[in-house]
Formats: sequence, structure tokens, C-alpha cells
Amino acid sequence: MKLQSIGNDKHHYKHLANHVNSQVNNGAIVANGLSLSREISWFSEVMTLQIQIYFVQGAPLESIYQLPAPDLSVDDSPFAHFVKDNKLGFEERIILILAIIPHVQPQVLDAFFSLNANFDRCYAEFGGKDGKRHRGFLPTAETAMFILTGDDLTKRLAVMALFDEHSSLMHQRVLILEDYTSGEPFLSHSLNVSAESLQMFTTGIDYKPTYSSSFPATLITSPLNWQDLVLAPSVMDEINKISTWITHSNTILDKWGLDKSLKPGYRSLFYGPPGTGKTLSATLIGAKLGLDVYRIDLSSMVSKYIGETEKNLANLFDQAQNKQWILFFDEADALFGARSQGSSANDRNANQQVAYLLQRIEDFPGVVLLATNLRANIDEAFSRRFQSLVYFPMPDANQRLLLWKKTLNNNHETDNDNQLYTLAEKYELAGGAITNVVRYAAISALQTGSDVILYKDLKIGINKELRKEGKTI
Ligand SMILES: Nc1ncnc2c1ncn2[C@@H]1O[C@H](COP(=O)(O)OP(=O)(O)OP(=O)(O)O)[C@@H](O)[C@H]1O
Ligand SMILES: [Mg+2]
Repeated sequence: MKLQSIGNDKHHYKHLANHVNSQVNNGAIVANGLSLSREISWFSEVMTLQIQIYFVQGAPLESIYQLPAPDLSVDDSPFAHFVKDNKLGFEERIILILAIIPHVQPQVLDAFFSLNANFDRCYAEFGGKDGKRHRGFLPTAETAMFILTGDDLTKRLAVMALFDEHSSLMHQRVLILEDYTSGEPFLSHSLNVSAESLQMFTTGIDYKPTYSSSFPATLITSPLNWQDLVLAPSVMDEINKISTWITHSNTILDKWGLDKSLKPGYRSLFYGPPGTGKTLSATLIGAKLGLDVYRIDLSSMVSKYIGETEKNLANLFDQAQNKQWILFFDEADALFGARSQGSSANDRNANQQVAYLLQRIEDFPGVVLLATNLRANIDEAFSRRFQSLVYFPMPDANQRLLLWKKTLNNNHETDNDNQLYTLAEKYELAGGAITNVVRYAAISALQTGSDVILYKDLKIGINKELRKEGKTI
């Protein structure tokens, strides 16, 4: 870019930003920008002061702790909320912003490039590593250590605990230590911030991981909403209990002090015939409460990733715990079936994974929903671990009529609604089968040039569905 054209480019960026803003949350970007710039200014002062103290360059203050971190209490940015919610202290904030700076304002770290004239090389004290293309200084854990502790060895030993995998920022996978060369000191790890956290601290968009072998789960959503759900009152009651727990568990556990006797989290098993709304209900609970629901297909998991499974599951549970996701284990029969059969190495391995999974489910402080078609296989030891077992029965005639109406959405012949009533009365179909029939009849209508869905096509579709289920009419 030529210097003269910067003015124009600014215009270009503004234009680009407006374009991007139509997709992202502009408010979050502006708020993050304000919070980050204050945090970076503070960091910069701390860093300069530590260099002055360390090199005895007439530092104006004695200790970096005389420079308090900015007060973010009134900031409404995702960054500020993260800092406040996690009650990050002085050291953690320095480490976090240091990890973020190369992504947002790399020049802030340029002072670390100064050479040690005695040896004509960079100061070992500063840590850091060379980038392949990045021109700025890339911090390592050592860099954070220098800024926070200078040459105070005792302090250094204390601050090292912040890089322990159990420390809050590491455990939540906000900070990442990477690029380790074996045999070198632990603090030579590069210090980075995870992709998802960076996204949250910049654009403010919640990062949604996608399916991979190390993240064997898929975010599920539905275009349907709560009003579309047709359930027997007893089932609806159980679903509402789950929602109430999610919204008010803090009151129950903390305020009422029941956390001594009740485990946190809620585990519920949905069972019943195919297409009765188990997956849909799980999805809608999340949508109603603004929580993401991740579906884990157990049948593929237990068999496919033997050996890796535990690690991947651990990853998934750790992430879910910090995000308040609802975990939805579909085809959960893989769990019940897998136990105790056979004695081959594979079987043993599967049993081990199941035991591990059950333990994680039991200890999970959030909501875990499992779904299966088979109730018979579930033993008592298993059901004891659940707060509720919810049976999703086949819908009765009234519920079927509602399902027909909602699914057709007024696109059927309306001359004689009695026919719809008859279909509902006569054919025992679950919601899933009804959607299949309507899809079939809609296609037929288009093919024959009809602009409404015809009863005769619905009947043919019903026939096909019943045959699929091994029934005839
Ligand atoms: N109770 C219901 N209320 C409204 N729609 C329903 C209901 N049950 C099923 N449906 C419709 O059928 C579709 C399939 O249902 P869903 O996937 O929830 O069934 P399921 O019980 O999870 O079945 P499976 O046991 O085969 O996994 C839904 O997306 C919805 O369109
Ligand atoms: Mg399902």
C-alpha cells in the first residue's frame, strides 16, 4: 500500500467495515475496541515500567502493582464481561492481554526487540519467538513472566502456577501454550489466545466449533418453535421442569443452600418410538433459554475413535462446561448395549469408554439429555443417575390432528376439514412420519400442477409410511 493512498484506504476500510457490520454485532466490536485499548494502554505502561525497573533506568515507581488495571466495571464489551465474570486479577489480565496484543496491536511489543549489547542478541529475559512472516514480537510464557516478575525469583515461582493446566484461563482454553520444543524450558511455550476467545474479544461473535474427530458434536437448531411442539401434558411438564432447573438452579443450589445435598447439573433420558419429538424437544429447550445444544452421536463415537475417544470426550465436556451448552447424546443405546458384552480387546476398550462417559455425565454441572428408542436395555444402575426419565409416547388422535394442521400450515385442500380429522383418527403416526407424508404429498402436488396438497396424495404417503414401519392398512 502506498502511503499517499492511506486516506482512501481508510475510506475503503470504513466501507468494508460497514459491509461486515451488516453481519456482525457492531456494538460488540466498538465496545471491545474501547475496552481493549484501555487494557492495552495499561499493559504498555506496566511493560515500560518493568523494563525501567529491571534495567535501573530511573523508574518513576517502585513496582508494577502501583499501576492498577483499568476499571472495566461500567464497560459492556464481551472482553470486559469476561474479565469481570472470571474475576481476573492483575497477573491474569496482563497475561491475557499479552496473548491478544500480537493479533490486534503488535507494535506494542516492539520494545522487546532491543538487543543486549553485551552479547549482540535478544535478551533471554524477554522470551519470545521468531515469526515466519509476522514482523512483530511473538510472546512466550517467559515474556509474561518478565513483565510480571522481573528478576524476583520468588514471585516468578508463584506466577508460574498461572500457566498450570488447572488455572482458570488455561482450563477454559482461553489461553493456549503451544509450539513446545521438547527438552526446552516450559516457559518457552508460545503464548496465544484460542481462536474462539479471540473472536469473542474482537468481533464479539460467539465462536461455534464444528464437527471434527477431536470435537465429535454438532450444533443442532430447528426452524420450529415452542408453539409447534405437540406433547402430552405429562411430557410437557417434564420438559418444563428441565427448563426451570436451568433457569433457577442457582437459586436452588446457592440461595437455598441445597448444593450440599444436590449434585449440580441435570440429567434426563428421553425414550420412546422414533419421530415422537425427542430431538426436537431437546433443541427447543436450548432455543427457549438461549443455550446452544450440541448433539453427540454415540453410535459412531464409541466404535470409531477407540483410544482417542476419552480425550475427545474430555475436550467436549470441558468446553461444554464453560459455555453452558446442553449436551444431547443421541442414539444413547450405544451406551447401554456396549457394557459387559464380550471380552475382546475392543469390547474392553468400549466398556472402559462407557464407564468414563458415564462418570463424566454424572459429574457434569450442566444439562445432559440422552435419547433412545429402547427403554428395555436401561438397567437400574443407569437410571439412578438420571433426574428424570421422560417417555415420549405415540401421539393420540387429538395430538395427531394438531400435528397434521401445524405441518400442513394451511397448504391443504380446505373444502372438507373433516377429512383431516379422519386421517388423524385413523392412522397412528408419529410427528416424524407425518412430516414425511406431507413432504411426499407436497412433491406430488407440485408434479401434478396442484397448488394445494391433496388428500389423495396424503393417503398414498400414509400408506408408504405404514409400510416402512412394517404395518399395512
Ligand atoms: N411432538 C412433536 N411435536 C411437533 N413436531 C414433532 C413432534 N414429534 C415429531 N415432530 C416432527 O417430526 C420431526 C422429527 O422428530 P424428532 O427428530 O424430534 O423425533 P425423535 O423422537 O428424535 O425420533 P428418533 O427416535 O427417530 O430420533 C420433527 O422435526 C418435527 O417436525
Ligand atoms: Mg431423534
